[in-house]
Amino acid sequence: MPETLAAAARAAATLRHLTTPVELPRHLIEELLDRALGFELGEADLQRRDGRLLATLFYEPSTRTRFSFEAAMHRLGGQVLSAENAVKASSAAKGESLEDAIRVISGYVDAIVIRHPEIGAAARAAQAATVPVVNAGDGAGHHPTQALLDLYTIRKELGRLDRLRVGLVGDLRNGRTVRSLALLLSRFPQNELVLVSPPGLRMGDDILEALGETAVDQTGELDPVVCTLDVLYQTRIQAERFESAEAYERYRGVYVVTPDIMRCLPEHALLMHPLPRVGEIDPQVDSDPRAAYFRQTRNGLWARMAVLDWVLGS
Ligand code: NCD
Repeated sequence: MPETLAAAARAAATLRHLTTPVELPRHLIEELLDRALGFELGEADLQRRDGRLLATLFYEPSTRTRFSFEAAMHRLGGQVLSAENAVKASSAAKGESLEDAIRVISGYVDAIVIRHPEIGAAARAAQAATVPVVNAGDGAGHHPTQALLDLYTIRKELGRLDRLRVGLVGDLRNGRTVRSLALLLSRFPQNELVLVSPPGLRMGDDILEALGETAVDQTGELDPVVCTLDVLYQTRIQAERFESAEAYERYRGVYVVTPDIMRCLPEHALLMHPLPRVGEIDPQVDSDPRAAYFRQTRNGLWARMAVLDWVLGS
């Protein structure tokens, strides 16, 4: 093999992608959370990424994820090229394959953040890319950087990531945030997951089978478990994943966190939500100090700075 091709092959083999939680063993999670804390504290010796370029390629809507990735890249000293509506505004509208688009964009930038409606799209992108790829959500698959910022929030507010009883509530079948979070929580000892969903929206077997030693309770009832939790993690019913509006309507409003629910939640516990919320947390709850969801969004900045810094070090 000519030397340039051999060098390209070596470089591809050492690229740091983040497409699923599988790429996040415990030691790397801890390293990234420590790095995120360093960014939050403004530690001076952290890497700057001046002149590096990031492409954000979003084939699904986003507010927090795209803005926080882009803010993170700017704060690292880099710059961003953004396709915020890639379905219509990229050559996907002309029928170009994801692989071709990624091959081309790889030639312009140093890393790619992608959100796409198909499960596995980020992994496919990583196969085609010659720069690192970060998954910002692949359909009902995974959302690994959301799970990292969730862990960052829990560690910051509760002081640990083990011996926690965490209630994951809502659309566990289609919710990529909870699928990724369950896997990351299972990397730490003695955590217990309480999976609260209607029978039709249960957590997938692929996740349940990967949870190892982690204790799991499954229930359809939220009220009786609230008083036992360290973290109540509420989620949105994922309307866009249902085959029809009627199918979604069957589940809309199935669990709502109200001031009454908050009366049962222990004093030390957290109420989290990846947002956006569409009725599943009553805004009256926002002023409760345990309502962590807006603090959680801010933590996305530090967690994504850490992830970008890590992949750019490939
Ligand atoms: C989540 C997502 O896109 O999966 N949003 C986010 O990134 N914070 C959750 C959701 O849309 O329900």
